[in-house]
Amino acid sequence: MIGGGQIGGTLALLITQKALGDVVLVDRPELEGPMRGKALDLMALRPHGGHDVAIRGSGDYAAIGGADLVIVTAGLPRKPGMDREDLLDTNLRIVRQVAQQVRQHAPDAFVILTTNPLDAMVYAFHHYSGLPPQRLAGMAGALDSGRFRSFIAMETGLSVADVSALVIGGHGPSMIPLTRTATVGGIPLADLLTAEQIRSIVARTREAGTEIVQLLGNGSAFYSPAAAAVEMAEACLRDRKRVIPAAALCRGEYGVDGLFLGVPCVIGSGGVERVIEFQLTPEERALFDATTERVRATVAALRL
Ligand code: NAD
Ligand code: LAC
Repeated sequence: MIGGGQIGGTLALLITQKALGDVVLVDRPELEGPMRGKALDLMALRPHGGHDVAIRGSGDYAAIGGADLVIVTAGLPRKPGMDREDLLDTNLRIVRQVAQQVRQHAPDAFVILTTNPLDAMVYAFHHYSGLPPQRLAGMAGALDSGRFRSFIAMETGLSVADVSALVIGGHGPSMIPLTRTATVGGIPLADLLTAEQIRSIVARTREAGTEIVQLLGNGSAFYSPAAAAVEMAEACLRDRKRVIPAAALCRGEYGVDGLFLGVPCVIGSGGVERVIEFQLTPEERALFDATTERVRATVAALRL
């Protein structure tokens, strides 16, 4: 784990409870104490539903040496009134430093990144780390799809376990909650909710991150982002071949070449083993082109 803040700490908790593997929580050198404190606290959690995993805290990147998986959450979160793109300059400096450290200490790891603005930060991480694209993914689509599923369950009053729904595209207001393919128990969403209800859910999904930033007043969502990242981590560590939307390098898929963008990915021991391309309707295609241009503009603003 590089970044032991709100998401990083929650990640370490979830990984301990799921026995996914040993954990090293790494943060800035001046935060070595808090990282060691969180690690010790998590070690004491193990008898209460945890497992015999080892959790360590450090302020030295070398502590990730030889890791199979690195989850990077290092970066500033938004404050109320901020767009994710407002974080670009500060978080680019952080991502550059972290990418170079991962390249040095854990060159064979699968890297999952959460740092915002997500799609551009994954692009930058790829640039600075030199990792093969299949071993790098941005976590956003899993979170956004989870939010979409949760809002559908809340509106229908049905179990979230039976909701299947996908969000693709950039991690921001241009994201695309796919209403056409959403189902509850295999039943199309359009047979369960009115067009107005569906429109409202789509809008709330797009703005869910901002809604939480406004409510918290200091920082952004962290429970659901951590849980979404752990789902990707588990798919890799246990070679589950899960189909999870993630910011992966598109090399011609969906007509996009050279950008990291939220697309359905097969995640297993090889990392992003495949990007799955499927037929979009003309309306969905137009939305995908728009979200692609939004991401492309943010990437163009990077000073790499
Ligand atoms: P946080 O401030 O709680 O934690 C970030 C941690 O990164 C801090 O502990 C900080 O000390 C550490 N850090 C900063 N620079 C570092 C460096 N150079 N090396 C190591 N550690 C460093 O923030 P958070 O709530 O955990 O969010 C982390 C990031 O994830 C933010 O950029 C936020 O915008 C983003 N986020 C993404 C999603 C998504 O869906 N992709 C969702 C929520 C938040
Ligand atoms: C989110 C933002 C902060 O919570 O990325 O979606």
